[in-house]
Amino acid sequence: MVINGHTRTCGLIGNPVEHTMSPLIHNTLARMLSHNLVYVPFHVEEGKLQDAVKGACGLNILGLNVTVPYKSQVMRELAQIDPLAAKIGAVNTLVRCENGFKGYNTDMPGLYRAMCSENIQIEGQEVILLGAGGAARAVAFLCASKNVKKVYLLNRSVEKARAVASEVNEKCNTDCILPMQLSDYRQLPDGKFLAIQATSVGLYPDIDRVVIEDDAFYEKIHTGYDLIYKPSDTRFMQLVRSHKGRAYHGLKMLLYQGIIAYELWNGVSVSEEMAMQVYEILKQEMDIKD
Ligand code: ATR
Repeated sequence: MVINGHTRTCGLIGNPVEHTMSPLIHNTLARMLSHNLVYVPFHVEEGKLQDAVKGACGLNILGLNVTVPYKSQVMRELAQIDPLAAKIGAVNTLVRCENGFKGYNTDMPGLYRAMCSENIQIEGQEVILLGAGGAARAVAFLCASKNVKKVYLLNRSVEKARAVASEVNEKCNTDCILPMQLSDYRQLPDGKFLAIQATSVGLYPDIDRVVIEDDAFYEKIHTGYDLIYKPSDTRFMQLVRSHKGRAYHGLKMLLYQGIIAYELWNGVSVSEEMAMQVYEILKQEMDIKD
């Protein structure tokens, strides 16, 4: 790649950022689309977020992704916030605008695009959602905005499940999110469900762990979607498959949240064919075979 006087810079701010896959996504897209653009990670120390956003603005940086722990904190530093991101209360993408940056959330539409690409339908479905943290909140908003019939939101701490459920129900003008204690999964109604695993349990290096071990739970799942992509075959996915369900990891969600950010920064639309080429490169890098 040639870096010259016209090269535009994008990047990632977070802490830590050392294990990110985002540079591979964006630098591959820039190469494929012949854009003179480079994407780099920026490790932002605690207390330095405001300096980082102001500095990025001064340096005329085209766009930034934002990761842990700054997705809500960064909202204070922005000139504008997209209504969807404001509703979710989390921003993972900053786009250069007149007086600074405009904040977007591409995690939620990224998950939707990932699910569509796997032919997983959520509209009109009954969904089990595991977790009530930042990731689960975005999933709950997605479900509520796509007219899901019911979301059984199961979390270890039921107060957090209740808080997320009432916030999402209120903001989306629905009552489809039903909070439950994780251990109450036996009270789920009969039938088979789409289950979305949005807790951090099972994440590398704790790859042998899973939120619910009981076979009876997995009998209720026709499709299991784990937001975790490292490892690419989680214990949750293995248990879903061993009860004849279809199981997916979260790498496509990562891919599409990146693609949507890239589209916002550059005013382009990335074709499915190109998305799949980037996906193959990501899988190769992570040594994923399927
Ligand atoms: P993220 O931003 O990745 O969602 P988070 O906000 O820290 O991370 O949320 C982590 C989620 O994993 C929470 O739902 C958490 O449950 P609690 O709200 O009860 O803490 C869940 N989680 C983490 N460790 C867990 C464990 N050992 N068993 C069950 N749930 C767990």
